[in-house]
Amino acid sequence: MALPRTSPSTLLLGAVLCAATARGEAPVPLDRLALMELGARVYRSSCASCHGFRGDGEGQAARALSPKPRDFRRGAFKFRSTRSGELPVDSDLRRTVARGLPGTSMPGFGGRLDERELDAVVQYVKAFAPRFDEEPPGFQVEIPPLPENPPAPDAGAAAYERAGCGSCHGATGRGDGPSSPGLLDDDGRPIKARDLWREAFRAGDAPEELFRTLVTGLDGAPMPSYRDSLTDEEIWQVVFYVRSLKRPSLLHALFGAREDQEDW
Ligand code: HEC
Ligand code: HEC
Repeated sequence: MALPRTSPSTLLLGAVLCAATARGEAPVPLDRLALMELGARVYRSSCASCHGFRGDGEGQAARALSPKPRDFRRGAFKFRSTRSGELPVDSDLRRTVARGLPGTSMPGFGGRLDERELDAVVQYVKAFAPRFDEEPPGFQVEIPPLPENPPAPDAGAAAYERAGCGSCHGATGRGDGPSSPGLLDDDGRPIKARDLWREAFRAGDAPEELFRTLVTGLDGAPMPSYRDSLTDEEIWQVVFYVRSLKRPSLLHALFGAREDQEDW
């Protein structure tokens, strides 16, 4: 069904509110209405070109993009602080929108949208996914304090091997593991395991951020959660090991691309 060209987001907003009324819920408070209206405006001008007016990930620009913009209707998000399979909390979505996702077309809006606009667009995005009405918010995982002494790289390499990261990311982390060529995301699209030497980490590469990625997994992608299969100590070992694989781009510039350094 093609939506009319006039103010599709207002229609959507109407649909959201009607749905709430049809479910016999209390009338939507006015400040919530104002927030959703602001969210609709921000979404229409800054997000719909990629994520689509209906939140289906099919904006005009989407066809040319890889990875594809998220289809919000499913309510599955990769970059969360909550356990595998659970909904993200608002601050997760806000962080993604403010910082963007390096290595993808998803821009960071931190400098362009003010605090209220960020809050508003997050609420608007959530309204596309019925899951947010049906399920309680996810349970945020705990990130333990950094170990006092950085774990030895050997221990990290061993934990990386034991955990089976190499089956996708490759024995040395180049994204060329035996399973990598056949990997699909939950929409059935081919997806590659990250090259841990060169490619950006979308959820951040600070130790705590990598810890979070390994504990939560990336929902919708084949990257699993290691919450139950690795101890906190082992996760820290892997985190420091993964960080040791990456070289700052300055070194790239000075000493050439790492592809030339196969003697690693
Ligand atoms: C130029 C295209 C583009 C624009 C504009 C854009 N996005 Fe995205 N967005 C993407 C892509 C591509 C992804 C998927 C990245 C991936 O799968 O790792 C994404 C993913 C997301 C995600 C999912 C993160 C997760 O945890 O799975 C959210 C939320 C999001 N965008 C919100 C927004 C909002 C809100 C706006 C507008 C303020 C916006 N995006 C504008 C391209 C865009
Ligand atoms: C079954 C395959 C598979 C296994 C096993 C796996 N990964 Fe991944 N991993 C992926 C895929 C696929 C992606 C890319 C997801 C995407 O593009 O959205 C990824 C992404 C990542 C990222 C980037 C996250 C970001 O913020 O962008 C890191 C870091 C990572 N994996 C580390 C590991 C480590 C360490 C292990 C072992 C403890 C591991 N992975 C095990 C498939 C796997």
